[in-house]
Order: sequence, then structure tokens, then C-alpha cells
Amino acid sequence: MTDLHRHLRERLLAASVDLGLDATAAADLVRLDAPKNKDHGDIALGAFQLAKLAGKAPPAFAAELAAKITPDAVIESSAAAGPFVNFRFRRAALAREVLSAIQSDAAPYGKATPTGEVVCIDFSSPNIAKPFHIGHMRSTVIGNALCRIHRHQGATVHGINHLGDWGMPFAKMMTAYMHFGDEAKLHESPMRYMFELYKRYGKEAEANPGLDDEAAKRFKALESGVDNDERRMWQLLRDESLKAFQGPYTRLGVTFDHVTGESFFEDKMEAAMARVTAAGVLEESEGAEVVKLEDKGIKVPCLLRKSDGTTLYHTRDLAAVFYREQQYHPNRILYVVGAEQKLHFAQLKAVLEKMNEPIAAAVEHVPFGLVLSKTEDGKYEKFASRAGNAVFLDEILDESVAKVRQVIAEKNPDLDDKDQVAEQVGVSAIVFNDLKNSRIKDVKFDWDAMLAFEGETGPYVQYAVARLSSILRKVDAPVPATDQVDFALLADAERVLLQMMEFGNAVRRAAEQSEPSVVTSFAIALAGEIHSYLVDHYVVGAEPAVQQARLVLVDAARRLLTTALDLLGIPAPERM
Ligand code: ARG
Repeated sequence: MTDLHRHLRERLLAASVDLGLDATAAADLVRLDAPKNKDHGDIALGAFQLAKLAGKAPPAFAAELAAKITPDAVIESSAAAGPFVNFRFRRAALAREVLSAIQSDAAPYGKATPTGEVVCIDFSSPNIAKPFHIGHMRSTVIGNALCRIHRHQGATVHGINHLGDWGMPFAKMMTAYMHFGDEAKLHESPMRYMFELYKRYGKEAEANPGLDDEAAKRFKALESGVDNDERRMWQLLRDESLKAFQGPYTRLGVTFDHVTGESFFEDKMEAAMARVTAAGVLEESEGAEVVKLEDKGIKVPCLLRKSDGTTLYHTRDLAAVFYREQQYHPNRILYVVGAEQKLHFAQLKAVLEKMNEPIAAAVEHVPFGLVLSKTEDGKYEKFASRAGNAVFLDEILDESVAKVRQVIAEKNPDLDDKDQVAEQVGVSAIVFNDLKNSRIKDVKFDWDAMLAFEGETGPYVQYAVARLSSILRKVDAPVPATDQVDFALLADAERVLLQMMEFGNAVRRAAEQSEPSVVTSFAIALAGEIHSYLVDHYVVGAEPAVQQARLVLVDAARRLLTTALDLLGIPAPERM
């Protein structure tokens, strides 16, 4: 909350008490939001709930409230419009408040003080016996943004990579390697080579169904815990693929607090199973062990142990919930995983509910849509389906960077650090494109749209930062402290200032709804407002007092855009 919000809130609370409401009850109901129409005011309150508490009709109560909020040093006006009350801040107060807070890095523009909330974010989590393809990118970049957003909000965040490094997919890779593997090729290019093996296994298994049985046996041998060939093979393949994943992670600027893959839970599954048994919800079904969930509205039972005694993806997820509960005491556990695993997480939550485990309430699946690529004839199709070829993430990043390098060669050939800027802009274009729409929508992968310097793109927002940085360089004078500025001179910057003021709400909503797109929209809107402002408001060449005030504004816009990009995991180069 900004000081302006706080001030208005206090006035509203006092007014509500004057109007006979209970202070504590009213406190929860005073929620300020941007008005639907900016011409109505800077900020609005929907009086529905307060009116209900007062036992009055919302429009009548809104009118009484509006009359109580008389102008003061900060508030210029208040007016009821139906069930809403709209407020306008004094322009100088608005500028002073917003720009001082941004300059001093105060919350919500800077990081909040710790709130005590603990959020586990399970993200990326690729199956490492398969290539790191474009589908994994979505979980990786959404999860990374959510980690940053929650940290900004003062939560303690545990970013967790729940690697798929156990189970049948891994056993198949292992079996393939034991039959046709070549260690030199593996070391040379682990990800590509494993993909070859993966494809070869698929073909061979079609001709020879015995291969799947062998893989199942090998998994059993691996799960026996004995130091055997399978275990050594598992270690080798795991080490190699983890190393290979590090490349894209580094380029995307992604780090994890814990890399606890499925194999980590190998020795924790029996305790989890014992807990399910003790809760009395485990049933036998054709030799397997399941939890039936019909009473929870889910037809498919949750399979926790196969008839051959081995465990499953679900068993490890259950063990992981208990482990996270005990280690981190989370308020929320977010699983950033594609929408196709909806059933899996519904089952997981339902099993925990059936066991009467309070941690069930913390389990939240954060689903997202597919990545679609544009075909020759302008249609969109699922990315991976292209002639059975996996699309390797590093190749896509390379392609993007190469395209940006070309643009730089044309537009700004004298730029220093060309390679670094191309890398920063090229990778970010893909990340921004992924985060710009609500996550449940499919991402359309269209190079031209994604890399444009105009429109809702990463390069557009990055370019805004570079432009602001360039203005500050040209003026070549220190940005004044906010107490040295006449804020009345920024009355015409109200659109920029009001947009800046939205930042706190945007980040809060992004955290609550696990929706980084709220932050991308904010960044696009602020970049747009500051661009328009600068069309007819010069900084270089303005008279001294005006220049001082505008310098503060430009610097604040640069800082806030940089912060917004940072929350998305995107760097902001000073020049491009
Ligand atoms: N490895 C899985 C996959 O690639 C995703 C794991 C998601 N996290 C989890 N705790 N289940 O499909």
C-alpha cells in the first residue's frame, strides 16, 4: 500500500465509524481499486459490502461516505457515482508521494518487509531423460516469475525443481542406453544423444514388446536400493542431463533453492504410504494399492503402488508434500505444471483431504496452456508435433538471439557489448511473450510479433528503459532528491503517475492469482505512458526547475520498469 492509499483508507475508516460502522469490520471492507473509467477519478471504492454492513442501499451509503471525505492536503475531491465513490488526489501530492517512494525504494515499489508467509513453488521440473523442450520453458519462466513476485511481496519462497529423475520414463532411457548406448556420444552432446536414444527405444519397443518388461524389471532393480548396474547407470544419465539443463537455466537467469527430484523421495515413500494406511484410506485393487476418490467427485482412483510393488509419480508427490510440510511449513504450495496434469493434482489434493491432512488446503495447481508454433500457412499448431522432432530450447533461444543481433547490426551498429545485448533482448523476447497473456491461454510463437520493438513485446519495454537511461545520460546531472523539486511542475504527468501508482495492486494480484501477466501488462502500460509523455515534454533543454522535476520522473519510470522486468526474470540493458 502506498502512503496515498493509506491516508485515504484512514479517512474512509474514520468516516465509516462516524457513520456508525464497527471499525474492525469496516477495516476489511475498505478496498481501493483503479476506477473502470479514469476520467471519474484516480481511485475508487466499491461501497457494496460497507453498505451491507450499515444496512443501507449501496448508492445511498456511497453518497454519505463521499460527503464525509472533505478535501485535505492530499485529497482533492470525492464523489459518489452509484454504488462507487471516486477520489482524486491533488496533483502535487500525487507526484511527491509516488516519486519519493520510488526513489527511496519503499514498498510496494521496493521489496516489502518479511510478512512471514511461506510459499513453495514447484516449477520447471522436467523429466530429465527427455530433451528440455519448449513445453518445459513455460513452467520454468512462469515459476521463476512467481518466485520473484512472492519474494517482492515479502514471502519466504522455496523455489523447487522436482526433477523427473525416477520411474518408468527414466527406466526406459536406462534400458535403451544399456542396449545401444555409446558413452563418448553421451558426453559429447547429452541432451541430443538421449533424445536419439529415446526415439530409438520407441521404435525398438514397438517391434519388441519385451523391452518394456525389461525396463520395468530394471526399475524394480533400481528401486531395490542395492548398488547395482541400474543404479550406476541412473547416476550417469542423471548427472549428464542435469549438466545439460544448466545451459538453458543459466541463460534464462533461473535458479532453484532446492533441486529435489523424484529420486530424492526414494527413501521417503514408505513413510508416506504408512501415513496413508494409518489414515485408513488405502485400498487394494487387483493387487495394486489405491485411494478411491469417488466420494470426492473424482472417478479415477489414485494409484500409489503397482502390483509389482513399485511406486509411482503420485507416490513421490505425496511424499514430497509431507516433506515440504515438515521442512518449510508452507502456507501455499504452488505446482506450476501444464493443464494436462489437472487430474493428477486434483487427485493429490483429494487424497490429502480424505486423509484429513490440513496441508491439503495449501496444494494449488497452477496450470498453463500449450506453446503453439505458426505454420507456413499462418495457422497455429502444437510445437512438438513438427515431424516428431523435439524443439530444443537452446536452439530456439539461439535463433531469437541471432535475429536480434541482425536488428542491432542494422539499427545500432556502433553499440558496445552487442553480443551481450543481443543475448539479453533475444532471450527476454521469448520470456516476455510467454508471460504476456493469462497463463491458461496457449502461447503463440510468432517470431515477427515477439521481436517487434513496437507493440506488447519484451524488446518494447526494454527499449523504454534504454531510452530513459539515455535521457539521464544526456542530461548528465545528478537526479535531484525529491525534497528539492517543485512537484506542481509535474501536474501534466498525471497519467504516468497514476499508472505508477498501480504497481502495488498489480504485484499483489499477480501473487494472489499466480498470474505474472498482470505484471507484464503493467510494464507495457507504463512504458506506453512514459513514451507518450516524452513526445511533447522535453527533459534535455527544458528550463532548470522543469528539468529537475522531469529528471525525477524519468528516473522513477526507469527504476520501476526495471523492477517490473526483474519480477519477470528479464534484464534491462542500459543501451540497445
Ligand atoms: N516431471 C513432470 C513432467 O515433466 C512434472 C513434475 C511437476 N511437479 C510435480 N511435483 N509433480 O511432466
